[in-house]
Amino acid sequence: MSKKSISIVILAAGKGSRMKSPKAKVLHTLCGREMLYYIIKTSRCISDDVTVVVAHQKEAVVGQMKRYFDDVNFVEQDAQNFPGTGGAMKNISVKNEKVLVLNGDMPLVTPKSLEGFLESESEIVMSIFDLQNPDGYGRVIIQDGHVVKIVEQKDASARELNVSTVNAGIYAFSKKVLDKYIPLLNNNNAQKEYYLTDVISMARADALNITPLLVDEEHFKGVNSKKDLSDAEIIMQERIKTSLMEGGVIMQLPSTIYIEEGVVFEGECVVENGCRITGNSRIINSHIKAHSVVEDSIVKNSDVGPMAHLRPASNIEETHIGNFVEVKKSTLRGVKAGHLSYIGDAKVDEGTNIGAGVITCNYDGIKKYETIIGKNVFVGSDSQLVAPVTIEDDVMIAAGTTLTSGIIQKGSLAISRTKLRTIEDFYYKFFKK
Ligand code: UD1
Ligand code: MG
Repeated sequence: MSKKSISIVILAAGKGSRMKSPKAKVLHTLCGREMLYYIIKTSRCISDDVTVVVAHQKEAVVGQMKRYFDDVNFVEQDAQNFPGTGGAMKNISVKNEKVLVLNGDMPLVTPKSLEGFLESESEIVMSIFDLQNPDGYGRVIIQDGHVVKIVEQKDASARELNVSTVNAGIYAFSKKVLDKYIPLLNNNNAQKEYYLTDVISMARADALNITPLLVDEEHFKGVNSKKDLSDAEIIMQERIKTSLMEGGVIMQLPSTIYIEEGVVFEGECVVENGCRITGNSRIINSHIKAHSVVEDSIVKNSDVGPMAHLRPASNIEETHIGNFVEVKKSTLRGVKAGHLSYIGDAKVDEGTNIGAGVITCNYDGIKKYETIIGKNVFVGSDSQLVAPVTIEDDVMIAAGTTLTSGIIQKGSLAISRTKLRTIEDFYYKFFKK
């Protein structure tokens, strides 16, 4: 089936009260991106006609998704008058005769896992799985080998609650089926909602063919609680890391590494155990050593860590960042910063050595200021560079110097120390030894 021949509707208008959160459920993130992002991304691989139904916190949902996708339609559900997944399907207009309906709380679905829905010629295909613990799902009632209805948990009898075959929440309908049955839905149920799932019993009563498709939990699990979110994140992490390793990244003890969806690796890279790499970081031909954190930064031809922290907007090239070094919003090219430093709002050029314990004092309590360090500068250990400060090329900063605002000229030495005093035999007098 070509990308042009199916339309997709993603239901994302619900509150998600089981998340117990002020944030709309579909905006909760796993691996750095909102759960709705994943299902839209999957949908865009299959279809050119993707509609997302929104209502609850619609400005936030639409705003966030427009950051990633500019070719998705958003439709508002009249959730006041027509709450529920069936209410969400009112006023939808689609381009194609076949419509795949997806719940927005299913981030683990992949294009491959949806193939069965696209291949079937049946007027209704619905997804089912068997669960040891079916709690929360709609139960699928099958009689004589035919699906006859879906009963929501809150409406189920004690006998129906024991049914372990559940509705996974994905359906392929012909447009004709939707046009006929969506207007006929009612809200005579425990939740006073319009259930999309009632289409099944109505279609069955008209002797329509309903094809159940057995799907797996790993791809079709719905996220309804924060526990579900964390379970889904574990699966998503596995997928991200497996795909990165297949692409050539070396990982030591990958189960201890956390890498977000937006991170890109190029060339030969090594990530050691315990690292966390987030945002839109780009790691190119670099080695990230144990227990380092890289957030929204670029690391090229460099080594970082162990136990280093690159905070957002750091740009590191041909550079060595050693243990307990923190860098923030700084550009370092051809630099060595081996131990225990804070480099913030700085630009540091080639051949420069940042000694142990050097601090850029970038904040005066009100504003942040820049530190500019030129080429081949030797910044001695335990120096404080009080920004704004510019250090030109070929400068030596003596260890322990406090450099206050200004310009240090090319070729000079900057030293600020009190003169060393020694007092003979002071130790013996003090301790009376
Ligand atoms: C739904 C199914 C249930 C199935 C389960 C699978 C119904 C009535 N029930 O239940 O049979 O087992 O999914 O995960 O469909 N939404 C709207 N508008 C609304 C309400 C919900 O767009 O008014 C959206 C939500 O944002 C969500 C999706 O529909 O993305 C599913 O809603 P949710 O409340 O999670 O339904 P479940 O109770 O999980
Ligand atoms: Mg759900």
